[in-house]
Amino acid sequence: MKIKPAKHLQGTLKLPGDKSISHRAALLGAMATGETKIEGFAASADCASTIDCLQKLGIEVRREKTRIFVKGVVKTGFQKPSQNLDCGNSGTTLRLLAGILAGQNFGSVLRGDASLQKRPMQRIIEPLTQMGAKIEPRNGRAPLEIQGKNPLQAISYKMNIASAQVKSCVLLAGLNAQGKTTIQSPKTELRIPSSRNHTELMLSYLGADLEENFLEFEDGFAQEISINGDSKLTARDLQIPSDISSAAFFLVAASCLKGSELILKNVGLNPTRRAVIDVLQSFGAEIEILDEREICNEIVGDLRVCGRRNFAPKFKTNKIDGDVIANLIDEIPILAIFGTQLENGLEIRNAQELRVKESDRIKAIVENLRRMNADVEEFADGLRVGKSDLKGAQVDAYGDHRIAMAFAIAALFADGETRITGAEYASVSFPEFFQTLSSVAK
Ligand code: S3P
Repeated sequence: MKIKPAKHLQGTLKLPGDKSISHRAALLGAMATGETKIEGFAASADCASTIDCLQKLGIEVRREKTRIFVKGVVKTGFQKPSQNLDCGNSGTTLRLLAGILAGQNFGSVLRGDASLQKRPMQRIIEPLTQMGAKIEPRNGRAPLEIQGKNPLQAISYKMNIASAQVKSCVLLAGLNAQGKTTIQSPKTELRIPSSRNHTELMLSYLGADLEENFLEFEDGFAQEISINGDSKLTARDLQIPSDISSAAFFLVAASCLKGSELILKNVGLNPTRRAVIDVLQSFGAEIEILDEREICNEIVGDLRVCGRRNFAPKFKTNKIDGDVIANLIDEIPILAIFGTQLENGLEIRNAQELRVKESDRIKAIVENLRRMNADVEEFADGLRVGKSDLKGAQVDAYGDHRIAMAFAIAALFADGETRITGAEYASVSFPEFFQTLSSVAK
């Protein structure tokens, strides 16, 4: 993919449905009584993997463009698959499905592509094993052979990483456990969940018996969720908001290109996901939230973003670190690009989880930015970029959708043409990304 610099962005966009919420809608729809109609289902390869696995487990799914219908089989009605379940590139598919399969009375195998089979799985194997499932990994990673059991044993589990995939995996297993399963998240300074909470919100929306508390400590709060294994889910129509993680690419591009004006319609603004907006605003980006409203337990709104270059140096050292990292983990590649346009650059720390995403994102960002002439330093848990005059170069997506898209935006700010190898990986979350970008880039 060749990308030329742009002067500004102009237009109104309705971006694809949120990937995280779409996965959950399909999976919880399958565990509900009745048929779930899902509007705005993400057109992403990752969510297609979830549907494909569900179909192999005997779930009827009908698709009409971005609307899908899932026929629920209740919590234990899944059928033993006749083949391995391929989760493709999708960590959410694999880790959440593992929670469901742990509570089924049959054996199954979850596998993925080369990237997914390198990612850590001990974090879900540990709680699921405590609940009574038998899980055989290969060298601690996928493929995972899961021998499920019903009912599972309810547990009280304290997570030591802020991961929504782990939390959701245990919650879904808890639906098939005898008694009340409790999950405590790591501490945070603010009284909000340490990781995205779409699973909890959707479980409540579909009628699960779920309780959320915040434990208070001297130095912060910890989210604690309990789910009753007797919970029943009832199908309801679901509407998926546009994905704020996809919107982030356009927010950064429009903020940095003077004269831009973009409207992004119906974007998910869940408090555990919107930190990217707060951070961009704190560095002077002009982003306005219009018509904030609630749909299916999720907050959504329209975003208006206007562009101005040369952001004022707000702080002596621009730094993003601490608790907020988990709430903008998927936006860090594009925030690093944003950092190259900031007067004092940007340092990002406490982001070691980035090393075990679809690629080692710290390494991918640093190497590509260096190729584009940026001043960048790598740390074990993050990076620092200085304000840089980017130059068009040959960069690599490293098989990672967010790296492909982040560097497409970097290319808009660069001098000369940029070529991205592996740009097609964008389809993992946003198949029409490049067409959408060229429709608004002037
Ligand atoms: C996701 C959670 C995050 C995120 C991923 C999607 C989810 O991962 O990075 O893209 O849908 O639950 P972790 O929970 O592993 O941090």
